[in-house]
Amino acid sequence: MTEAPETRYHVRGGTPLNGTVFVQGAKNAALKMIAASLLAANGRTVLRNVPPIEDVRRAVELAQAIGALVEFHEAERTLVVDASRLTSPVLPAEIARRFRASVLFVPALLHRFGEAIIEGVGGCNLGSRNLDFHYRGFTRLGATVDEGETVIRIKAAKLEGAHLYLDTPSHTGTENLIMAAALAPGTTVIDNTAMEPEVLDVIAFLTKMGADISGGGTGFVTVHGVEELHAVEHTVMADRIDAAVFAMAAAITGGELSLVGADLDHFGVVRWKLEQMGVEFATHGAILQVRRERQLRPINVITSPFPGFATDLQSPIMALSTLADGTSYIRETIFDGRYTLASELNKLGAKVEVAGNAALVHGPGVLKGTEVIAHDLRSGIALILAGLAADGETVVAPGYMIDRGHASVAARLTTLGADIDVENLTDAP
Ligand code: EPU
Repeated sequence: MTEAPETRYHVRGGTPLNGTVFVQGAKNAALKMIAASLLAANGRTVLRNVPPIEDVRRAVELAQAIGALVEFHEAERTLVVDASRLTSPVLPAEIARRFRASVLFVPALLHRFGEAIIEGVGGCNLGSRNLDFHYRGFTRLGATVDEGETVIRIKAAKLEGAHLYLDTPSHTGTENLIMAAALAPGTTVIDNTAMEPEVLDVIAFLTKMGADISGGGTGFVTVHGVEELHAVEHTVMADRIDAAVFAMAAAITGGELSLVGADLDHFGVVRWKLEQMGVEFATHGAILQVRRERQLRPINVITSPFPGFATDLQSPIMALSTLADGTSYIRETIFDGRYTLASELNKLGAKVEVAGNAALVHGPGVLKGTEVIAHDLRSGIALILAGLAADGETVVAPGYMIDRGHASVAARLTTLGADIDVENLTDAP
């Protein structure tokens, strides 16, 4: 596996951001599409608007490790996948351990080899993140799952349509079971499916490939298995989390940004919460204008599946609410372990109190730069936001965490007037 360089971000805050920023393609759609492209036994899949981020690079490496020919033309944001000759059903530990989305490769391996072997399952450090919905679903489709201490073996001579369910509307669980069912003879019904916009984009991609899927966005998906799926071309939707992070960058610095490619409909409740805080939005065709002029108001946020407030934006809004005039109340309901940001914000001078699964943010705080730790991707980008509003220099490490999910953060922010750079520690003498 390619070792990403050890980096840290240096942000010197205080400048209102202004200008135009391009929203990247959606990480959480692109990763699934890379996995889905392996279901096509012939031809070359072309994915456009793929974000050049570390998680995508890991997915590419994983696809290559099992024999797919993958070219990632990063400057063109274009990925070309030829999965006609897969060579191994083993997802090797050195990649799978760092990359939880590895489990998305299981449907293709089951259909192509009759087995999948995962040598480790990794990802963000977000507390307990089980994969039981995935494994239970594979089992109901006819697979046997043998969960060892370090290796998970899944076998299926053939999969067959069945009635499946998810205990909660799991985002990746929905996509993974749809992929597994797409080539399974018979009809599969999945109850309690996720409705995130990325799920709909993945369904659109699979449908183009020839899959027969209905009910996307309703909470109940039906899949009629087809005999084969073919390689197609698809443009990945814009990343709503990246878009909202830049909206919050405008808000936290009191600036005004034009977001190219952002879709306000994909913000769900996030839009209304930001408006309550005093952030103003205006849509002009494909451009979303965001500005904040007045003092930020405190907010009450409870994370929930789409269209509720996205858990991936809980950390960024916590950073934003440190500047609000009063106490904000934030409750995380999707992932435990997603309050590691609180103590890092407090190092910057914020007053965030965690009590059980709620966090109270006592604003308005005066942030002052210091060294802070990015414990996961979204707390990392939230610390960059905090750094943009802090006096002096904020140093955020490891940079890899941020680069997992947001492309060219320093370059994009610099264009908007921010004072930010990346220090490469690997090259340091
Ligand atoms: N869960 C289970 N069992 C399962 C699957 C999920 O208990 O088999 C639980 C999880 O532990 C969690 C909840 O269900 O408490 C929701 O998990 P979900 O499966 O929806 O999350 P995910 O699909 O693993 C995706 C994104 C996350 C994003 C969540 C919620 C990808 C690759 N990841 O994760 O993105 O936070 O949906 O929208 O699509 C990120 O981008 O930073 C990120 C963490």
